Amino acid sequence: MTAEIISGKELSTQLRNELAEEVQDLKVTPSLAVILVGDDPASHSYVRGKEKACRTAGIHSIVKRHPTSLREDELIAEIDALNEDSSVHGILVQLPLPEHISEDAVIERIAVNKDVDGFHPVNVGRLLTGKKAFTPCTPLGIMKMLEISGVDPRGKHAVVVGRSQLVGRPVGQLLLNKDATVTYCHSKTKDLAFHASQADILIAAAGREGMISEAHVKEGAAVIDVGVNRVESTGKLTGDVQFEEVKEKAGWITPVPGGVGPMTITMLLHNTVEAARGTMF
Ligand code: GUN
Repeated sequence: MTAEIISGKELSTQLRNELAEEVQDLKVTPSLAVILVGDDPASHSYVRGKEKACRTAGIHSIVKRHPTSLREDELIAEIDALNEDSSVHGILVQLPLPEHISEDAVIERIAVNKDVDGFHPVNVGRLLTGKKAFTPCTPLGIMKMLEISGVDPRGKHAVVVGRSQLVGRPVGQLLLNKDATVTYCHSKTKDLAFHASQADILIAAAGREGMISEAHVKEGAAVIDVGVNRVESTGKLTGDVQFEEVKEKAGWITPVPGGVGPMTITMLLHNTVEAARGTMF
């Protein structure tokens, strides 16, 4: 069997066009504030990508760039001001933050109804209890890719490899909320290949280049590759899945690049539009 390739790039283009149309019909222009502290090149590149995507969807974006030396209390004061500003609908603090700033304290300060990243403990708790919540963008993008491909999680066995706050944990929760039977695997799991090869839906989110081989995959499974690993020798991006061999066995597979990556920003736009509608809670 050769897998159907789920193109996050194509799906993103379609969804961003739909969002741009939705934005036209809103009474307000959705507005996203992004805070970036420090000079990490990857973070700067991600934030430029977010700005550009906002522009093409007709979403207003404000980016606050600060030096690494910014104090935690200064950052908190900026968040307080953005929380109070009714023209700002979404607030995103780019992670990671410099070591002297507590990420937890910062995330907890963001107003729950402006938390377009879905990292605030109230949104995390609402997701856990199966309630409507702002949901982290990468997991939301994964669910959209499954939906568009006709892969219904109900009654299926989903195996999530990786237990990060950003991806592994929340995507497992979303799959559970859609009635999948969910197994989490992680660095201490014994016999990963045994567990992974039981999966009807396999989410590879460990951040380890090529760790999922053909031996980890059941014939016909949907394989979603969340890995973003840079190959040192070539500088190219590669996933957690050995794409060429796994695509001959899987039913569906996402490529890297052009798979889950573009969906993350698309879902950020989606969450910002939701925040502007003000109907989440
Ligand atoms: N850094 C890497 N990914 C993300 C993300 O999804 N949101 C934020 N705020 N920071 C990140």
